[in-house]
This record gives sequence, structure tokens and C-alpha cells, in this order.
Amino acid sequence: MKLWGGRFAKNTASLVDSFNASIEFDQKLYKHDIIGSIAHAKMLGKCNIITIEESQIIIDGLQSILEDIEKGFVTFQIEYEDIHMNIEKLLIDRIGDVGKKLHTARSRNDQVAVDIRLYLREEIEEICGLLKNLLTTLKDLGKIHGDTVMPGYTHLQRAQPVTLGYHMMAYFQMFKRDLARLHDCYERVNIMPLGAGALAGTTYATDRQFLAQQLGFTDVCQNSMDAVSDRDFAIEFISDASIMMMHLSRFCEELILWSSAEFHFIEMDDAYSTGSSIMPQKKNPDVAELIRGKTGRIYGNLMNILTIMKGLPLAYNKDMQEDKPPLFDTVENLKDCLVIFNEMLKTMTVQKDQMKKATKEGFMNATDVADYLVKKGLPFRSSHEIVGKMVLHCIQHGKAIDDLSLEEFTSFSPAFTEDILEIIKIESCIASKVSYGSTAKGSIETMIQQAEDFLSNI
Ligand code: ARG
Repeated sequence: MKLWGGRFAKNTASLVDSFNASIEFDQKLYKHDIIGSIAHAKMLGKCNIITIEESQIIIDGLQSILEDIEKGFVTFQIEYEDIHMNIEKLLIDRIGDVGKKLHTARSRNDQVAVDIRLYLREEIEEICGLLKNLLTTLKDLGKIHGDTVMPGYTHLQRAQPVTLGYHMMAYFQMFKRDLARLHDCYERVNIMPLGAGALAGTTYATDRQFLAQQLGFTDVCQNSMDAVSDRDFAIEFISDASIMMMHLSRFCEELILWSSAEFHFIEMDDAYSTGSSIMPQKKNPDVAELIRGKTGRIYGNLMNILTIMKGLPLAYNKDMQEDKPPLFDTVENLKDCLVIFNEMLKTMTVQKDQMKKATKEGFMNATDVADYLVKKGLPFRSSHEIVGKMVLHCIQHGKAIDDLSLEEFTSFSPAFTEDILEIIKIESCIASKVSYGSTAKGSIETMIQQAEDFLSNI
């Protein structure tokens, strides 16, 4: 007999039983469901909706079910559809008719909403911890590589010299924003829908503030129809996860390029690389590639849940049961990616000489030469043209700007003097970036200090 079987004259088809059921995936919520139910039973007792003794029997029953699930003693059943009814059925079997009072003044609609919020709250806390680990790694790399010269790119063409420390601290900023987005999302997840009932509120004088307090929510959903219909908080989380994955994916793309023979800027640790089943020489950056690939799956999850919700009339609709697979999948994959990416980053070897060598080609000091002439009084557009001609000359003669003699410099502009030879050195180009937030050593030191202050305050 179904828990809702009263108005039915016939059993559901077994096809419908399995099609309708979510127990296969929502059993993940068992702990949150029980915690929510314990708080609900306590509130029912406190508000004299059931007796204190009944409330206590229910709470003890729920606690023993929780222990048994954790010990692996419980098998959930498809005929009880979802985690909520499976646990309620287990409770009734265990404590008898008193168990039938638990569902007073609530519906599965507010129950599932509170379960997901409890789950997501916990997961966001964990993900924030993982992000913090990654930020710490980036800050450490920023510190170690403040002097590691490398090419900076635009259009994947060598542009201006930077340091690897600076490049790492660019990612620090991205993941710091991701963390801020998650903190912000948490505020909205942490509002309690329980007590909303099916959609209209209930006829019992419940104490939802007490419930929120018991469950550690900062507030109660103000409109019960919204409380049971809303999945914005999950969509918001998956959006944040998508942005985070986009950052990881860009980073992975760079690491994949950098570990190719063409760049050879880094080498992944053997423990974070894989081989080829046919080509014995291969060492592949599979981990980075897989993170890049999983980004597609997280974007897919975002489209999935947005599309589920887009046409739903208020209030609850069964479509919403489909919110859980994309949410769970996002949480699990994001956590895996953050952990493994951090380890991969910590263990990679940086080929400083190769990075430095790459800055010798590509006329990366050309902008500095142009800036030099501006400081000698030329308008920027004119100096840009002069240096453009110098670069063309160098290309035609197979030279770098650094190979030009002072005589050659002055043949392009009389404004050049001896000091240009020092100014065009790659280290000088980096050191001369005096603007706030630049790649110069002092600027990176400021970033590291800001990062350390930030990390010690979160
Ligand atoms: N398993 C359902 C879900 O995940 C629980 C809520 C069911 N509510 C209902 N009115 N059928 O959405």
C-alpha cells in the first residue's frame, strides 16, 4: 500500500513505479531528510501539534534509522518512490502509528526543498574549502615565481614579457571572485522553505522561526508558494560552478599547451599524467584535458536545470524531481576537478630556462622601445610607426631588437641614446611596468600581500 494510496482503487503499473521513482538518486539526501524531519518533529511537539512523548518517539525512531542507513543495514525500495517516503515508511514500520504523525503540517514539496538546501549548504562549504586550497597554491606559486620570466600572450602571439608569478596571480583573482560568488549564493541557499506545506501554508500554528533556528537557516521563505516552487538557488549554484569550470578549463588549456614540446614551459608530474596504449614515448596531460572536457558537462547541467524550470506553472510540478541529477553531478564533478587540479598544479615542474628563452623571440620589447621614444618627446602614434619599421627591418635581417647596434637604432630615430640598450632587456621591460597591478616585482609583492591578507581572513 502506497503512503498516498487512499484515493486509488488500483495499484500503479510497475512501469510507473520505476519511472516515477527518484530513490535511485535522491537517497543521497537521506541524512538531510532525517535532520529536517527531526527538526519538524521537535517543532510539532513544541507547538503542541503532537505530544512531547510522540515527538520524542519519532525523533528516536528517525535517529535509529539514520544509524542503520550509515551502517548499510537499509535497502531503499522503489515502491516508496523517493527518499522522503522511504524514510517515512521505515519509521512507521519501526515505531508504529505514532510514525504516521510525522507528516502533519508539511508536504513533500517543502520537505524536498529543505533537503536540497541543507545538502547544498554543506556542499558549498566544502567547495569553498577546496577553492581556498587552490587559492593558497596559486599564491604560493605567485611568490615562488615572481622572477620567473615568460612571454605574455595576446591572440596566442608573444606580446610582452611577464612573470609566471604574475600569470598565477591572474588566476588567483578569478578564483577569488568564484569564491565570492559562492558566498553570495550561500546566503540565498540558506533560507528555509520547511513549513510551507504543499503550496498554501498549513492550518497548524507552527513555529517556522524555531524550525529555521534548529536547522541553522538565517531566515524563513516569506511566501510559501515561492518556497516550494523555487529552484533559483540550485540554478545559481550551477551557474557559479559553470564560471568556475570555465576558469579551470582555460587554465587547463594553457597547461596542456605549456606541456607540449612546442612550448615545453612545464612538465606534469608522472603521477598526474598518462601514457599511450600504442605510442611508447607518449606522456599525455589527460587530467587537464578531462577537466577541460568536464566543463561541457557542467554547462550541460546548467542548461538542463534551466530548461526544466522554464515553463513550469506555480507551484510544485513533478518535473522538478529532475533537478537533482544535474545538481548532484555538478557538485561531485566540481569537487573532483578542484581537488585534482590543485594537486596537478602543485606537482608540476616549471622549465624556467625554456620560458626565458621564449621571451628572446617575438620582439616582446617593441612596446618598451615605443614607450622610450614617447618619453623622449615623440607622440605615441609616431613612435609606434618607427618601431614597427624597426621590427620589419629585424625580420628582414633575421635579427632581434636586442641585436641592433646603437648606430642602427639612431638610423631609425635620432632620439635614441646609449640607455636604450639597457632598457630593451627583458628584465628591464618587466621592472619598468610601474603602473598599479602590473607584472613588475614590487607589484606582484603587493598582490601576494593582498592575497595573504585575504586568505587569513576567510
Ligand atoms: N521526489 C520528489 C521530488 O524530488 C519529492 C516531491 C514530491 N512531491 C509531489 N507532490 N509529488 O521532487
